[in-house]
Amino acid sequence: MSFVVAIDGPAGTGKGTVTKIIAEDLGLVYIDTGAMYRCVALEAMKRQVEPEESTELFEILDSIEIAFKKNGMLQETWLNGENVSNEIRSAMIDAKVDKFAALKCVRDKMTPLQRKMGETSKIIIEGRDCGTVIFPDADVKIYLDCSMEERANRRYKQYLEKGIKATYEEVLENIKQRYKIETQREIAPLRKAEDAILVDSTKLTIEEVVAEIEKIINEKVS
Ligand code: DC
Repeated sequence: MSFVVAIDGPAGTGKGTVTKIIAEDLGLVYIDTGAMYRCVALEAMKRQVEPEESTELFEILDSIEIAFKKNGMLQETWLNGENVSNEIRSAMIDAKVDKFAALKCVRDKMTPLQRKMGETSKIIIEGRDCGTVIFPDADVKIYLDCSMEERANRRYKQYLEKGIKATYEEVLENIKQRYKIETQREIAPLRKAEDAILVDSTKLTIEEVVAEIEKIINEKVS
């Protein structure tokens, strides 16, 4: 029997981190839909294919194989038989992935794949359109939000830790731009599903967000 928890929200809300923890705690299969768009962008960049509908991009989409594999506590992303978990997080992919994710041909391929992954298992799926487009009938829908300033703050700290050079103002500007692109695009824009429960992580720790979402899930199943 399938059971679907859908978590949507903008980048920098802690979505990925909390989803992974909840998946472990509750024994759910974790599906990172953003990683799938990152795989498309990576394969296209490897083959020097631009983010626009073209024969070359269709060819990539026709043959692309994306899989998630568990390796201890880690979840690996595999693209055409290769572990690309680190490669898909590069700054180059960060800069281009939104353009691929906005294309109809890309979403037409990814959405059915994502639905298929949830057909037979109990899953927790995170992204931008999980509760609105992929699983409009999800058992639990969460919209995880956070102020722009706090999201920029968190991203800026991550950059400092990784030694990536950027000012807080640049990071904030980038967060604002991405939010605009994701909420205003034509296909599957980021928005809160009407029946999604809003969780605001601005003033909460990761542990507090996890506890709040697990409480919502547990109330639903009990
Ligand atoms: O969550 P992320 O940063 O890994 O997402 C990568 C890109 O994919 C980002 O541009 C948003 C987009 N995305 C999307 O359009 N729909 C989803 N369900 C998940 C991610």
